[in-house]
Amino acid sequence: MAQETETLVRPAAGGLHGEVEIPGDKSISHRSVMLSSLADTPVRIHHFLPGQDCLSTAACFRAMGAEIAFHNAEKTELTVKGNGLHGLMEPRDILDAGNSGTTLRLMLGLMSAQPFCAAFTGDASLRERPMGRVVKPLSRMGARIYGRAGNAKLPLMTVPADGGLHGMTYESPVASAQVKSSILLAGMYASGATTVVEPVTSRDHTERMLEAFGVSTEKDGTAVTIHPVDHFTAPADIDVPGDISSAAYWLAAGSIVPGSDILLRRVGINPTRTGMLDVLRAMGADLTLSGRHTSGGEEAADIRVRAAKLHGTSFGADIMPRLIDEIPAIAAMALFAKGDTVITGAGELRVKETDRLQAIEDQWNVLSPGSVEGTADGLVIHGGMPVQTGRVQSYDDHRMAMSLAVIGLAGKGVTIAHGGCVKISYPDFYDTLTALQE
Ligand code: S3P
Repeated sequence: MAQETETLVRPAAGGLHGEVEIPGDKSISHRSVMLSSLADTPVRIHHFLPGQDCLSTAACFRAMGAEIAFHNAEKTELTVKGNGLHGLMEPRDILDAGNSGTTLRLMLGLMSAQPFCAAFTGDASLRERPMGRVVKPLSRMGARIYGRAGNAKLPLMTVPADGGLHGMTYESPVASAQVKSSILLAGMYASGATTVVEPVTSRDHTERMLEAFGVSTEKDGTAVTIHPVDHFTAPADIDVPGDISSAAYWLAAGSIVPGSDILLRRVGINPTRTGMLDVLRAMGADLTLSGRHTSGGEEAADIRVRAAKLHGTSFGADIMPRLIDEIPAIAAMALFAKGDTVITGAGELRVKETDRLQAIEDQWNVLSPGSVEGTADGLVIHGGMPVQTGRVQSYDDHRMAMSLAVIGLAGKGVTIAHGGCVKISYPDFYDTLTALQE
């Protein structure tokens, strides 16, 4: 995905002030379209994330016969009308997941169970990301998936399984909601029960949304079980909470830019996602949660963040699934904290949209030479060192671009090459950044 843009972010001299309506949660937006496309009554989705990743999911399901109508120019309101659990149609062209690992991995599970073939591709980043982590377990269920690099990389194709899929118990070596969800979606169509056991529990949005569609999963420690499903009872409406992974940039910037005071509206605080709040508190951040409410089985709240004097902290594998996407934002914050921040157990970051551990080490050291040391599965960030301005790379990775912007705001400004990739998950990011500086 080439974004030929260069974005200048100026330092936020007077602090960041104002209210931010946080865009819809990316994980929940994907799942809302996927499950609604398998229902036989229309579902209206509110506060959908119109990021490119979620639009990739919508395009894929449209190509298989789901009727998807957007109701506003911003594409945050839509109605999805499917044809039931067995109503998807064979796509006439290759399905393009774009930059989105969630689109691809969840669809590989779902499509393995369909009585037709489907071919998949994606952008340059997604074509290099590991798909063996879903292809292997799905194959154990009887799925037939073929592709490059020993069926582990795009382009990939699902072919109807001989005699259908069968349930299994799978001990996943990685804590990954994409792997878990892919297997659970396949498990809906399998004979017998399907259980996924994770080393640490990953985000549970699939389980919660299945519940909203009338399908119960069983949870036992880090194991989740699904039984064959024959029908969805869809909700009429799904209200997507704000994405805590998008709020993360304002939580970080608001904490480290002196004088800041920001109110973040309707942020999802599902406990499988709130690791960053724990880390912020451990670093001495000033956070206040109010207006807690539950919608569609997901908890949300307003979060007020005010600037504070932060100090370094340490965290590792146990909390990692609860803040995996927030590591770049936390690493930006750590640069301005007193003392060292030590991150371990973060090897999964090497297989995200880019190798985020390497990217952080390289780009942080451009802006603050000597501030970051990379380890095999983590980072040591020496906080409080001088931060200068410079031209940095986003690697076309949305979370890298936004985290570099945070450093620019708190430091001396920054120029981000290919900064336009923020539209993957936060199309209004730079507009909000400007509004908070005014
Ligand atoms: C996601 C799961 C996580 C996360 C990604 C979204 C999901 O990936 O990093 O941004 O929606 O299930 P992994 O499952 O690979 O950890």
